[in-house]
Amino acid sequence: MVRILGILVGIFFSGWLLVTFLVGAYTYVSSPPAATAEAEFHLHPKEVDWSFNGPLGHYDKRQLQRGFQVYSEVCSACHSLKLVAFRDLEALGYNEAEIKAIAKKRQIADIDPKTGEATTRPGLPADHFPLVYPNDTAARAANNNAIPPDQSLLAKSRHGGPDYIYSLLTGYRDQPAALLKQFPDAKTPTGLHYNPYFPNLNLAMAPPLTADGQVTYGPGNPKPTKDQMAKDVAAFLMWAAEPKLETRHNVGRAVVFFLLIASILSWLAYRSVWADKEH
Ligand code: HEC
Repeated sequence: MVRILGILVGIFFSGWLLVTFLVGAYTYVSSPPAATAEAEFHLHPKEVDWSFNGPLGHYDKRQLQRGFQVYSEVCSACHSLKLVAFRDLEALGYNEAEIKAIAKKRQIADIDPKTGEATTRPGLPADHFPLVYPNDTAARAANNNAIPPDQSLLAKSRHGGPDYIYSLLTGYRDQPAALLKQFPDAKTPTGLHYNPYFPNLNLAMAPPLTADGQVTYGPGNPKPTKDQMAKDVAAFLMWAAEPKLETRHNVGRAVVFFLLIASILSWLAYRSVWADKEH
């Protein structure tokens, strides 16, 4: 009896599932969801051949230094990097004196030890990069009502990571005529900028890299074209978000090597234990 009841309940639920699926499929086919400009014109990030791709990948320190230069001279006007300390820049190949000099150029919020009043002082290597705006309201007020996100983890928190950052920086263009023809209401609002790599196609950031040579690279470096600067700063932001990538790769290789040796040893042990047994 219980078994029959169980079977009936099972049939009922499977039938219900089938009916809801068929109803859903019929609704989708008879009135498919309306096309949107985002769905039609959004582009996936371009794939860049980064030095840090793949299990043997490693950061190119000179590229990271160039990227840091682009960050400092361009992006840091609006974007903070609050999880990175100046002394972390040692990983980019800067020495102690250079790091002290980099830190000293930034003003850090502090308390005056004598009066207890809020004040600022030049940065020290142990300080983190300072905030650009004191709060979100100030950030919005200065940026057409949008907040420039902190860049410490940006490369890890966006789909496509450094590919996305590079594509976004080099992806600004006029809104395609085909888009306006198909979606006349989707015109880029004033104050925003069309960029097919941004999820909703229009963003509040004006193109930050506007001319080749906007930043001057030292001798022995590639030419600072817009494309090169975009690549370098994207690589630098990848390092900021994942400074331990190389350690992780090294540990991964050591583990694979260890497992390989362990497998060979256990296979040899198996052979020797069973050597004179019939099996
Ligand atoms: C004048 C201020 C300003 C400068 C300079 C600037 N940005 Fe932005 N950035 C913004 C604002 C504002 C937003 C938010 C846009 C939005 O949400 O519509 C933004 C957004 C972004 C995003 C998109 C984040 C997301 O949510 O997906 C990236 C990536 C980015 N900026 C990278 C950079 C890089 C790299 C530089 C330097 C080369 C830079 N920005 C320079 C103001 C700026």
